Amino acid sequence: MNIAVIGLQWGDEGKGKVVDYLAKDFDIDVRFQGGANAGHTVRVGEKELIFHQIPCGILNKDITGVIGAGCVFDPSVFFEELNNLKKVDPTIEERIKISQFCHLVMPYHIMIDRIREETQQGIGTTKKGIGVAYEDKYGRIGLRVGDMFNPERFEKLLKHNLSRKNLILMEIYRAEPLSDNEIIHQFREYADRLRPMVIDDTAFLSRAIKEKKNIIFEGAQGTLLDINFGTYPYVTSSHTIAGGANIGVGIGPLYIDKVIGVVKAYTTRVGRGPFPSEDDSCLGEDLRKMGKEFGATTGRPRRCGPFDAGVVRYAARLNGVEEIFLTKLDVLSGLDKIKIGVAYNNKKDFDPFLAEELNPIYNEIPGFKEDISMIRDFNDLPEQARNYIKLIEHHTNLQVNFISVGPNRDAVIKK
Ligand code: IMP
Repeated sequence: MNIAVIGLQWGDEGKGKVVDYLAKDFDIDVRFQGGANAGHTVRVGEKELIFHQIPCGILNKDITGVIGAGCVFDPSVFFEELNNLKKVDPTIEERIKISQFCHLVMPYHIMIDRIREETQQGIGTTKKGIGVAYEDKYGRIGLRVGDMFNPERFEKLLKHNLSRKNLILMEIYRAEPLSDNEIIHQFREYADRLRPMVIDDTAFLSRAIKEKKNIIFEGAQGTLLDINFGTYPYVTSSHTIAGGANIGVGIGPLYIDKVIGVVKAYTTRVGRGPFPSEDDSCLGEDLRKMGKEFGATTGRPRRCGPFDAGVVRYAARLNGVEEIFLTKLDVLSGLDKIKIGVAYNNKKDFDPFLAEELNPIYNEIPGFKEDISMIRDFNDLPEQARNYIKLIEHHTNLQVNFISVGPNRDAVIKK
């Protein structure tokens, strides 16, 4: 079976833990979009590992991790991440494959992303160069991983691209230009080390499908950050929905058997943009503290608020999701009352065009006080926690099949 794991909110739903947990039954874990803007966290014992580009199911020993064609790839972040992970498991390098089709995130992409965010009214990006790299991809002037192994071609493309970027840097942003020689030299070194890992991912995956291997497609960011259907322009630059998996690795749409939606028991968002259930008073502050809601990539405090069923219904529709993996339920322990947004003042359903004007209408139920992090059986959960899950199911029309009750790898209830 091949499944896609997709965030149904604004990212940071806990997909890292979910993929790590589910991946034990899979042979291949594929990232299909985004890049080092992602921060998928997996807690192993006392250690917290943060994955930016490497598929996080790779901690399972028999898994091959693929960074698919739809991703943008930053070699410097990749090697830093790989070197850290190899301290945990030295076999990881042999189990990672990178698509030759991935577009490269170049130093000038990062520089322009940073300058735009710092000097203009940015959208609050992660400053990892993601949007600028995708601009070059769709502007058909980008450099791809496969280009690194043809030095002449790489040099020609780079010089062409950099001459335009240096003009922008100097004339528009009044910044220093970058030297092509330095970049060429640096990328030659990267190429030597990357060579054994680079593949045609479409061929690799179609062979795997023929051999009946099980593939998990690991979504990054979340549905509300999707370039087409998110809260545009406050979105990322890739297709974060399940359909992105097909175009992101070049396999037919019929090869994904199931989509699991990952949903946090409340809502968070980093960066600017509309967020109807945002709570900027005590509740939001409590959730940030209790849920340790600080960005895994940038360290920025996340904006927090109650669960918004309208957002999840909208996201479930875009992904064809029928079941959800609910995360961070334990964070709500201690609240006297738990609120859930069920509709909006002037509309039943979420509409990204009207997101600024939507005010949620809330249902409120009594909260629970117990520490639930050691519970592994649904029936052992406090009655109020079970009621909250039922309320989520009722207002989203989705089935909650898994519940994460703590940061540890095994802190999961399978319903
Ligand atoms: P970019 O992807 O860095 O261009 O940022 C665009 C928007 O997506 C910003 O609001 C970021 O905060 C948000 N974003 C990007 N990656 C993530 C993520 O992994 N989790 C949550 N938000 C993200």
